[in-house]
Amino acid sequence: MIESTLSELESRAAASIDAAATPDSLETARVEFLGRKGALASIGKDMGKLPPEQRAVVGKMLNAVKQSLESQFDSKKAAFDKAALDSRLAAEWLDVTRPAPGVRPGSLHPLTLIQRELEDYFTSLGFAVVDGPEVETEWHNFDALNIPATHPARDAQDTFWVEGGHVLRTHTSPVQVRAMEKFGAPLRIIAPGRVFRNEEVDASHEHTFYQLEGMMIDRDVSIAHMLYFMKGLLEAIFSREVTVRLRPGFFPFVEPGFELDIQCLICGGPGCPVCKQSGWVELLPCGLVHPNVLRAGGIDPDQWNGFAFGLGLTRLVMMRYAIDDIRHLASGDLRFLRQF
Ligand code: PHE
Repeated sequence: MIESTLSELESRAAASIDAAATPDSLETARVEFLGRKGALASIGKDMGKLPPEQRAVVGKMLNAVKQSLESQFDSKKAAFDKAALDSRLAAEWLDVTRPAPGVRPGSLHPLTLIQRELEDYFTSLGFAVVDGPEVETEWHNFDALNIPATHPARDAQDTFWVEGGHVLRTHTSPVQVRAMEKFGAPLRIIAPGRVFRNEEVDASHEHTFYQLEGMMIDRDVSIAHMLYFMKGLLEAIFSREVTVRLRPGFFPFVEPGFELDIQCLICGGPGCPVCKQSGWVELLPCGLVHPNVLRAGGIDPDQWNGFAFGLGLTRLVMMRYAIDDIRHLASGDLRFLRQF
């Protein structure tokens, strides 16, 4: 009697496991038949009323039914789990063979771009690229360059003085002296780098900016040589012919000294806001090296002479790319930097 109930129960349970179309209905079937208060459990309870011989037989049968149903349930559940995983994988697939999107390539700062172009130009002409300290001795920054103690640049108003009498170099010219000390004559060097002045910052002034110093020392160097190199450097940067003019300019470390102007590349001469209506832009102070400077560098001015220049690299960059505010250069603003 109990045996037939059991086998009837088994086939009903098997049918509803089989019929379960969703994980939820499968779970409902499990609770109904295999749960703690399910059909098999209640038969188990009734077994206590049976005589001992029959109890053993029914007990075995009950266990067999239970194991069979459990394994049917497990395999159906595994099938549901696999189907769920498959559909998730189909929805969320990732093509690992696709090329990675990669990082956005960076770009060089416009100052670096122009500095490298100038380095290429000058190294092709036999110049070496040299470097000097940004915290400089007073001697290298001023005295060796024939700058007297009374010169306004030596004032604390214009120059950042460092404790101990050093200065943040106000120009790249001290590298002239260091190069003469190190290499002697003949000499062809350029020295690009940062310089510092105690300036109020506005659209065209920064306390920190870049220059590119140049110096050539040889026998019988003339202003014509100097002009040749200066014109060449400007044409290399602007990739076109440029018109230049020399005006007298005073710098204690050159004699004669000049301001080399370039005819405005924006208006070509008649005058515009960039050249402040003059038709010319001041770009390149230069001159023949003062004998006192050669002497300070350990070079005999009776044997050697040379020219030197101090290109305003920051200003050149602003002109070449028509940058209207010097503060863009160190802003770190990616919208600015990505244009180069
Ligand atoms: N050192 C000068 C300045 O910063 C520029 C300069 C360099 C002038 C070399 C003449 C020769 O203003």
